[in-house]
Amino acid sequence: MRTARPPAEIPLTRLGHAEPDLLEELLTTVRRVARTGAFTLGEHSEGFERDFAAYCEIAHAVGVASGTSALELALRALRVGPGDEVIVPANSFVATAEAVSAVGAKPLLVDVDPDTHLMTADHVAAALGPRVRCAIPVHLYGSTVDMEPLLRVTRAAGVAVVEDACQAHGARYRGRRAGTLGDLGCFSFYPTKNLGGWGDGGAVVTADSELADRVRMLRSHGERTRYRHEVVGGTARLDAIQAAVLAIKLRELDGVNDERRRLGRVLRHAFAESGIAMPRPPFVGADHVYHLFVVRSHARDALRLHLRAAGIASAVHYPKPIHLTEAYAHLGLPRGSLPVSERLAVEVCSVPLFPGMSNGEVDRVIAAVVESSTAEAGVAASR
Ligand SMILES: Cc1ncc(COP(=O)(O)O)c(C=O)c1O
Repeated sequence: MRTARPPAEIPLTRLGHAEPDLLEELLTTVRRVARTGAFTLGEHSEGFERDFAAYCEIAHAVGVASGTSALELALRALRVGPGDEVIVPANSFVATAEAVSAVGAKPLLVDVDPDTHLMTADHVAAALGPRVRCAIPVHLYGSTVDMEPLLRVTRAAGVAVVEDACQAHGARYRGRRAGTLGDLGCFSFYPTKNLGGWGDGGAVVTADSELADRVRMLRSHGERTRYRHEVVGGTARLDAIQAAVLAIKLRELDGVNDERRRLGRVLRHAFAESGIAMPRPPFVGADHVYHLFVVRSHARDALRLHLRAAGIASAVHYPKPIHLTEAYAHLGLPRGSLPVSERLAVEVCSVPLFPGMSNGEVDRVIAAVVESSTAEAGVAASR
C-alpha cells in the first residue's frame, strides 16, 4: 500500500538564483571577473557602486565587506570613537551595536515602539546627552523608521544619523529610498537579504562627497592611491565577484520587492481577519519591503512547534534584545530595563515570505498560523 507523501517543507526563504537563466548569467559574469583577474576594486566594483548609487537616488555608494563593516566605516567616517555614545535600538541584530563597539564608542541601547517594533524620535530624544554623537535608526524587517520627526530631534541636537538599512533595500520613506535620509546609510548584501550576493558584502551610501571619500579610504588601508596611506584604515572592500553578482541581481530588486510587498499584503490581510497580532508600519501608507514577515504570539513557542509539525520553517528575529546578550552584559542594563524589546523577544515569530512562493505555500502558512492561534485561544479560554 502506498502512503501519501507529506507536503514539501516550506523554508523561511528561498534564494532566487536557482532559476536556470539567471544562474547561467551569474556564472558567466563570475567567469568574466576571473578572466580579468581583478578580484578587489576595479571595474566590476565601480560599476556596481555606480548602479547602486543610481538605484538609491544618491550621489555616492561605496562597496564594503559586509553590513557590519558598512556601519563601522560610517561611524569611523564621522570620527565617532572612544568617549562617544551612539543611540541604538535594543530590538535589532547585534551587528548594529557591534559596529559602535568596534570604533571604541558606547552603544546607548534604547527601547522600541510596541506597535511598530522600531525606534522613534521620542526614544532618541529621551536618550540625548552630552556624549551622544550619533543615532542609528534600524529599518527592521523592511519597515522604515519614521525618519522626519527623528531627524528633527537629531538636527536640533547636532547628532549625526547613520541609517541601518540592512533589511530595507529599496524601501521608500515619503518618496526617498531608505538609507538616503540620514548622513550615511548602510546595507548588507548577505545572501538572504532582499538584495543578496553569493557571500558577504555591504555598501555605504551618502550624499556627502567628503564622507564617501573617507569611507573609500578606510575600507582599503587609508589609500586613495596605492601605498599612500593617509589615514589608518584596513581591509573591508566588497570583492569584485560579489559586485558583479549584485549588479545583475540589482536589476531584479524592484520586482523582488514588489513581489514581497504583494505577499506581505496577502498574509497581513489574512492574519488581521483572524485577529493575529503583527507589527504595523509607522504611519498609514508607509512602505514595507518585507525582508521578514513577523507575527506576534503569547504562545510563540507553541506556534513554532505547530508550524514545524506542518512542515513550515520559522525563525525568531531576535531571541534576545541586545542588552540581554552575553556580549553586552557589561553595559549593566538588567532585565526589565527595556521592557518592549524584552517582550518582543519572547513573542515574535518570522514566517516564510519569499519571491516565488506559490499560492499553495501561502495558503499553508496562513492556515497553520491561524490554526495555531485558534487552538491557543481555546486553551486560554479553558484555563
Ligand atoms: C539590521 C541589521 N544590521 C546589520 C546587519 C549586518 O550585516 P552583515 O551580516 O552583512 O554584516 C544585518 C544583517 O544581518 C542586519 O539585519
